Formats: sequence, structure tokens, C-alpha cells
Amino acid sequence: MSQEKIDALVLFGVTGDLAFKKLFPALYLLAKKGKLDMPLIGVARQGLTTEELVERMRESVEKRFGDFESTVFERLARLTRYINGDYQNEDTYTKLREELGTARHPIHYLAIPPSLFPVVIQCLGKSGCAKGARVVVEKPFGRDYDSARKLNSTIRKVFRDNRIYRIDHYLGKEPVQNVLYFRFANTILEPIWNRNYIESVEITMAEDFGVTGRGAFYDDVGAVRDVVQNHLLQVIAFLTIEPPSCHTIDALRNEKLKIFNAITPLDKSSVVLGQYLGYKDESGVAPDSSTETFAAMRLCIDSWRWSGVPFYIRAGKRLPVTATEVLVKFKLPPQNVFAEPIPSSHNELRFKLGPDVSITLVTQAKKPGDEMLGEPLELSVCSKETEPVMDAYERLLQEAIEGDQTLFAREDAVEASWKIVDPILVDRPDVKVYEAGSWGPVEANSLYDDWHNPQ
Ligand code: BG6
Repeated sequence: MSQEKIDALVLFGVTGDLAFKKLFPALYLLAKKGKLDMPLIGVARQGLTTEELVERMRESVEKRFGDFESTVFERLARLTRYINGDYQNEDTYTKLREELGTARHPIHYLAIPPSLFPVVIQCLGKSGCAKGARVVVEKPFGRDYDSARKLNSTIRKVFRDNRIYRIDHYLGKEPVQNVLYFRFANTILEPIWNRNYIESVEITMAEDFGVTGRGAFYDDVGAVRDVVQNHLLQVIAFLTIEPPSCHTIDALRNEKLKIFNAITPLDKSSVVLGQYLGYKDESGVAPDSSTETFAAMRLCIDSWRWSGVPFYIRAGKRLPVTATEVLVKFKLPPQNVFAEPIPSSHNELRFKLGPDVSITLVTQAKKPGDEMLGEPLELSVCSKETEPVMDAYERLLQEAIEGDQTLFAREDAVEASWKIVDPILVDRPDVKVYEAGSWGPVEANSLYDDWHNPQ
């Protein structure tokens, strides 16, 4: 953990969607906790003034929180500056160097299209702005295995590894962290957490909205690069890793690397891609686009613990609901002791990861009455908080400011996760059309005919 105190925060892409929706509210929350006292320098090419940027920030914070503390916001506003400039132009970095003044340890947060990462990193290096600095790089980190390697090598020429923060906001989410915690904090799970007792694992990340103003970004990326290679593989890692042997930052990251290396790379026959009807009419989307807005797949982990257990993953836009859920299905008891067979869906552990959060053990219990008949009994714990105690971006920004890389992806693990999806990016399955508001193309049922649709 680096102890240098961060003395400026530079936000590339300050006028973008991510900054508006996620980063400004997170910065406000950090300011409210007294964790943000350094200059905040926004960089973009939109020709704004500092006053206009502050107004955007105010709008974002108001939209997110409704009522907010104006004294906190004014403090944030006083720290804020705007630099206008093209990311490819040296002048932009000269202005940035001047604006940084005596700051020696800035953080540069790249909330910009992935294609611009290399040029911005090289310019930061050439201009001297990278000296003593950290860099936070948004996902997707590269487009595939080769480009991720190239990007890692470009960044490593400018920043040392302990100054590189590859962000995946799922790692900062409370319920995602709880998957890891719950597994390793409850002895009862360990004996059954393996191929002997687990039939299958299912993860659904459903969103009822489309590309919501991000058409151009999304069309270049698609569901596999947008959420599978990163968010959902991270969730799988938390579900499946071996317990880290100590508390060092790298102990957890080593285990994740091992599990990514053990996942068999996908092939066409275990993947179904889809695109919702009407996607091609979205602004920023190519009229002949074949980008997938839905992906379903079956993954296998070639390890002692997980051999033979299928992992079914499904992610899509314009599905009937917005919900992310993990469902661990246990094998049925080996013998039917009672007359009536036990339904397979009554031996499950369900983690709802958002928007509402819960853990549910679905069991089969005796139905009151004179016969030995059963009925499902759900033992469920729901989060009582309407708002998470800590927002994912707030947590991750705080960790980057404090110099703790535990929750950020390591170079080798990012590359290993690309290796899993790479084959289907090269040899893509046909993209099937599905109705907006449906559970994706019917072909997904040929991969698995028992998908659990979250409510
Ligand atoms: C982002 C993706 O990383 O995660 C979006 O780019 C997606 O397409 C979003 O909607 C989902 O995040 P959350 O926190 O709302 O589940």
C-alpha cells in the first residue's frame, strides 16, 4: 500500500456519461466524509468553463440524491477546475501541467473511450504529468487478449504496477463483496461448496433498459466486453476461488488468477448471443450493427473443486426486469425417502446482488398436515438499507486515493480473463434477434432449459 498523499485528482472525460452518473455523486460522498481536499481537475473537449462544469456536477448530485448538503457541494465546487483540450494534443497536457502546479502525486482517472487510453497515457508520460502519479483505467481494459497485453505494456512504460488501478466497479459493490465474505465466514458452506454437492451455478444480470444515450460506446463493445469479461467473471471468481492464504493484497489476486486460468476458454457451441429488436435504431448505433446486447453461456472450471459443475451466465439489455442474481443449485438428496419427489429448485442458495440485496436459502419443508408432503420454504435475509452504506465508485475512488489496490484488477488476471472470452470474439456465434422485454433469444434455452428469471 502506497503511503504518498494524493494532492490532485484529474478526471479525463469529465463531461461524459460515467462522470455524470457515477463519479460526481461519488466525489460528493467523499467530500461529505471529508476525504476529498485536493484540487479536482476535469479534462474534456466540450469547450466548457469551470462554472459550467460545476453546474453539471450540481445537476448530477441533485439528480442522484435529491436533497444534498450545499456546504459540502460548495466545498467540492471550490476545488474544481476545467481544462478544455483534445486528448491527442500536447497543449492539453501543457495546460494540465500548469494547473497541477506544485502537486507531486496526482491521480489521473481515465473515464474516456477505451480507444483513447494509449494516447492519453503516452501524453501523460511525455508531458511529465505521470511523474509520481497514479492512474485509474476504466473497463473494458482492451478489446481482447492481445490488445489488453498491448495496453498493459503501454501503461507499464509510463506507470509502475503499484500505481496502476484497473477499475471494475463490481468489485466495489457491497453485495458482491458479501459473496466472498459469506463464503469464507461460514463454516457450514465449506463442506458443500464443491462438485460433490453443487449441481450448477447460474448468474443472471438483467437490465430492463437499453443503451440509454451510450449507443456509440456500446455498439463498439457489446455485452461480452461490457459486462461478462469483467463484472460477471469477477463474481464467478468470488464464488469459486480457494481461500487466500494470508491478508496481503496479492493473496486474493493470486487466487483470482488461478481460477481464471482454470476456466476453459469459451467456444461457439456454448454461447448464444442476441440483439434486441429496435437496437439498430438507437442513436449512435450503426444501422447494420451486429453487436450483441445479450449473451448467454456455459462455462466450466477445470479444477479439483469444480470439475463437472456447469456455470450458466446470462446478461442482457431490454430484458423484463433489472436484477442481478446468483443462484447456486445443490444436488438433490440421493434417495427419495418420501413418496413425493423433491423439486430441483428447492435446494438452492440465491444471492441477489442488486438493485435490492438479499440472500435466500430455498429449502423443502414438511407441509403441515397428516401426510409427509413437502412445500418450499425460503429463509431469506434482505438488506434493510434503502441506500448502500457505501457506493461502489465512492469505495473504489477512496481506495485509489488511499493507495490500496486490493479491489483493482491485476495485469495478469485481466489478461487471463480475456483469454476466456477471446475465442468467441474471434469466431462469433450468429447474433439472434429478441423482442425487447423478453428474456432474450429462445436459443438461450438450448444451452440450459431451467433458467431462473429474477423478479
Ligand atoms: C457498466 C456497463 O459497467 O455496468 C453498463 O457498462 C451496465 O452497460 C452497468 O449497465 C451496470 O452496473 P450496475 O452497477 O448498475 O449493475
